Amino acid sequence: MTTSTDTLTVTDNRTGTTYEIPIADGTIRATDLRQIKVDDADFGLMTYDPAFMNTASCRSAITFLDGDAGVLQYRGYPIEQLAGQSNFLEVAYLLLEGELPTQTQLTQWESDIAAELTVDPRVRGVVEGFSKDAHPMTILLAAIAALAPVYPDANDITDPEAQRRQVVRLNAKVATLGAYAYRHNAGQPYIDPKPGLSYAENFLTMIGQESPDPRLVKALDVLLILHADHEQNCSTSAVRSVGSSQVDPYSAAAAGVAALYGPLHGGANEAVLKMLRRIEKAENIPAFIEGVKGGKERLMGFGHRVYKNFDPRATIIKKACDDVFAVTGVNPLLEIAVQLEKVALEDEYFVKRKLYPNVDFYSGLIYEALNIPVEMFTVMFAIGRMPGWTSQWYEMINDKEQKISRPRQVYVGPAKRDYAAVGAR
Ligand code: CMC
Repeated sequence: MTTSTDTLTVTDNRTGTTYEIPIADGTIRATDLRQIKVDDADFGLMTYDPAFMNTASCRSAITFLDGDAGVLQYRGYPIEQLAGQSNFLEVAYLLLEGELPTQTQLTQWESDIAAELTVDPRVRGVVEGFSKDAHPMTILLAAIAALAPVYPDANDITDPEAQRRQVVRLNAKVATLGAYAYRHNAGQPYIDPKPGLSYAENFLTMIGQESPDPRLVKALDVLLILHADHEQNCSTSAVRSVGSSQVDPYSAAAAGVAALYGPLHGGANEAVLKMLRRIEKAENIPAFIEGVKGGKERLMGFGHRVYKNFDPRATIIKKACDDVFAVTGVNPLLEIAVQLEKVALEDEYFVKRKLYPNVDFYSGLIYEALNIPVEMFTVMFAIGRMPGWTSQWYEMINDKEQKISRPRQVYVGPAKRDYAAVGAR
């Protein structure tokens, strides 16, 4: 509730003028600062916020995150409860629709997804166009974008039924395309989706694992739930920003895949495993940590823009590791990871900067136990994140307050100058 005292009084010391700016939801409107001018010709005050450290770009009812308390909730439901009791498709529905489905709604949703699992031959052709050593994220990126021409109704972005059709297609086909990328890289024939299986089991089957152990299927399902949304992270902001141009949602989702690919974002899970392999044995940890503290490299899988206490997803994943290793036997890299975490959490460098393991620190060990190669880890993240990207796109496209995304800048280049012909320079 806003009261009359919910305002900010600002005095511009350049002019001596005082302004009263409303505060709502713990924010002021950046455009309210524009009235603060030194004279009529002045454009007005702007905020400067590289990397959006302190700028809310939207109002969202999807995911709540309290970084200091280590809290993550989807539509109000704690991540711990969803990971323990729900399943990925139900969570995807929750993110999109705002409520948990009734049995009838769930059955309909599952059958809508099942009906869209297959991929048009033209998009398969895009996958096949890549060389076998192409990174599967690059293949996924191209294949997601290639869905747009197959579904011309994707351009009807104001039609609620068309919006929903694309959301269903994206959430179904991303798993099939991820599996195709894997099989293509492995030089193996594609395996058709099996609509009767759960989302996670279907994926494992499509990458060639027949009748996977239910405990492994459950672990993958939990990982997908943990990755399903994370409010305005880099890739989701990319989806919203690109989608705000009113381009079709496949192109917007492809932007999300591209952003996720980077090693500071979803690519971190791949980087963690490579880092653990490089460290090789526990006695190499101290030298590695010294290198990190000396600025040579980052401890991948540590640190987060928002979590400054612990990442609740990492806690759940660490427990899931135990369940998975009970089936597959312990991955020797786990010992290095546990020891590395211990050393880092006791080191002043990491303590002072509030650096804790994030979702990517242990997830790769589970993927590896599921026989998923390291290059596929970020693809797994993308499959898990599709409900978040599409729910955020859906929310954005139906939000009357949103416009085309267009930040301002502080120009620091040369003042106007005259062109000189090449010989005169
Ligand atoms: N290893 C060593 N030092 C670090 C690390 C790290 N992983 N992360 C941050 N720092 C240091 C950083 O050097 C800086 O130190 P100083 O104040 O002396 O300059 C301080 O901590 C603050 O770091 P920052 O870069 O300003 O923090 P940020 O909020 O911009 O970056 C981050 C967040 C996740 C990009 C960063 O912590 C990082 O690069 N982590 C490693 C990559 C990683 O694990 N990414 C996955 C993130 S979670 C899942 C996802 O989003 O995909």
